[in-house]
Amino acid sequence: MISDRLSLSQHEKGDEMSATVDSKDLLEQSATFGAMTEGTALDWKIIAAHNQVLASSVSSRVLDHLRLLEGDHGGFSVDRMEHSLQTATRAYRANKSDEYVVCALLHDIGDTLGSYNHPDIAVAILKPFVSENHLWMVEKHGIFQGYNFFHYLGLDRNMRDQFEGHEAYDLTVEFCQEFDQTAFDPSYDSMRLEEFVPAVEALFAQPKNSIYLDDGGQMCGTDS
Ligand SMILES: [Fe+2]
Ligand SMILES: [Fe+2]
Repeated sequence: MISDRLSLSQHEKGDEMSATVDSKDLLEQSATFGAMTEGTALDWKIIAAHNQVLASSVSSRVLDHLRLLEGDHGGFSVDRMEHSLQTATRAYRANKSDEYVVCALLHDIGDTLGSYNHPDIAVAILKPFVSENHLWMVEKHGIFQGYNFFHYLGLDRNMRDQFEGHEAYDLTVEFCQEFDQTAFDPSYDSMRLEEFVPAVEALFAQPKNSIYLDDGGQMCGTDS
């Protein structure tokens, strides 16, 4: 689709036009190429503008996906949503940072998609937004949590020992022992998901690590 302001020939001169089109105009357009090799600077300005809007609402989609854990007990005494809320609540009540609490809230968000590697799903979602140590804590919690049950499954409960000496080793032991493994109590007074929403929104509003960010921390290809 090409807006009234742009003729096809003008669009083909994307480099020239891109400097004159405001973001509202961009959001009313779509790129015209059928193959990326045919793309122009204007095409990518249009796509970057749309992507910026999509990225600004990532927190609501993350929360929607977290809600998929509701009603999924997986054999546990509480469903996975209650487990997530309880883990985050315990971290919050222990005065952990907002970033830590959001990591706690989302650490098992991959349970519905990653049956064989669920921590990796949370890691992919959180990676642009959290510190390396918090990311490592989320990534390795599957192995560290195994200390509490791997021996019942014929696995090595001390699998975590391979990471001894890592900067985030103690942090991850604490997360699993203090907040994660304790969060299966049906009688615990967990906070509601809505209470965590401001912290989730704040975290996902400030990406720190991404190849798509410019030096000023803005989405590449956008003006603001
Ligand atoms: Fe987990
Ligand atoms: Fe967990």
